Amino acid sequence: MPQYQIGYSPRLSGEVHVSTAKNAVLPILAAALLTQEEIILHQVPQLTDVRHMLGILRSCGAEVSEENADVRIRGVSVGSPKENALLRTMRASVLILGPLVARTGACVLSMPGGCAIGQRPIDLHLKGLQKLGAKVEQEGGTVQVSGALKGANIYLDFPSVGATENLIMAAVLAKGVTRIENAAKEPEITDLCHFLTAMGGRIAGAGTANIIIEGVESLHGAEYTPIPDRIEAGTLACAAALTEGSVLLEGARTDHMRALLFKLSESGVICQEDVRGLRLRGKARHPMEARTLSYPGFPTDMQAPLMVVATQTHGLSVFLETIFENRYMHVVELKRLGAHIRVEGQLALIQGGRTLNGAHVTATDLRAAAALMLAGLIAQGQTTVSDPAGHLMRGYESLEDKLTVLGAEAKKLEDRINVSKKPANDGEFMAAN
Ligand code: EPZ
Repeated sequence: MPQYQIGYSPRLSGEVHVSTAKNAVLPILAAALLTQEEIILHQVPQLTDVRHMLGILRSCGAEVSEENADVRIRGVSVGSPKENALLRTMRASVLILGPLVARTGACVLSMPGGCAIGQRPIDLHLKGLQKLGAKVEQEGGTVQVSGALKGANIYLDFPSVGATENLIMAAVLAKGVTRIENAAKEPEITDLCHFLTAMGGRIAGAGTANIIIEGVESLHGAEYTPIPDRIEAGTLACAAALTEGSVLLEGARTDHMRALLFKLSESGVICQEDVRGLRLRGKARHPMEARTLSYPGFPTDMQAPLMVVATQTHGLSVFLETIFENRYMHVVELKRLGAHIRVEGQLALIQGGRTLNGAHVTATDLRAAAALMLAGLIAQGQTTVSDPAGHLMRGYESLEDKLTVLGAEAKKLEDRINVSKKPANDGEFMAAN
């Protein structure tokens, strides 16, 4: 079981490279199923979720090879995944649905379960596929989608990131034109559309609420480097804002981080765009208000890391989580370190200015794990973060090493027992991703 030890590290400085984005790489990997030609991806991050998605592609019949951070995928003949165990390891596995139905006319998947942060249904994905002419049958935890897809007008009741991605990947080979209204506008969706366009897809409106896809006969291979990870960069920016440091996040795209940077600037951190990325100086001092929203609003994935910053500001901060129904599990663990936080439904009231004291805490989901690592930086003494489900490695490429590069005392304790790499079995909650 991975454990991380973080020592009091009041001053971070230096520069660290930002990895490519987990939430861009996962849909782009799924999109590789749309062509029988070779796809080459560069700077693919070493993450558990990426490794699982590569396993799922292999299980669908694609040839996958890795060389350092380059990944080559070739799906000459593909079909529904042979084994479902991997599908249950992460929710993003649902992203192979659109590509497989578009490419082969059918897909059978085990329904992704709920996870720590919420129920996370896929009704919007399935409703959109039905609008495109697919037949959807659900039986005993399995969903079967089949049929020849035809362009359609789709309205998403909620700008779901995954549903937008799945439906774009389905529409790109459908007969005719598809319009998706109230689409999600996250940068990872724009990146997916850039990748699909590089494959010969015809897409307009990427990054807006109205995306138009003109179906084509087939897609060809492509070579691509995904965008940097705005959530990893945001997490490191929060680490800088907790300590009186001067930090350069090399490769960060500040245009993807506006909401967070406004919060940190309002709180007293100097955030400067630099030709090489994002430079941060100074400490967060003033309390803040944050309401999580779809992009370009404040990202729900940054709620837990920013809450740690709020615990150190002078006054009362107010957070409202509007995207997921159960995304405050990090609060109990932060209170174990001495934070003064009160949760009332989707509202969290954080009384700042409290000294945190090192303790043994447990990660409950991916972003909670990152938040606890940050809290250890400013807690007196040593903090041990236990991560029994290996959440942190799903979404961060050695966060402990990146914090160490910036001068923190952070290390991963060797697994005391050999944790089986087996994916979560049916009864267990799937980790959030
Ligand atoms: C993506 O999840 C991200 N994951 C999440 O990142 C991120 O938190 C989320 O978008 C919101 O930005 C990946 O990209 C792999 P949604 P996704 O569909 O696509 C409801 C992380 O930490 N909903 O936009 O699953 C859903 O229940 C992870 O990196 C439906 O009701 O998010 C949720 O309340 C966590 N029906 C809300 O919409 C549906 O059919 C947002 O979900 C789909 C979603």
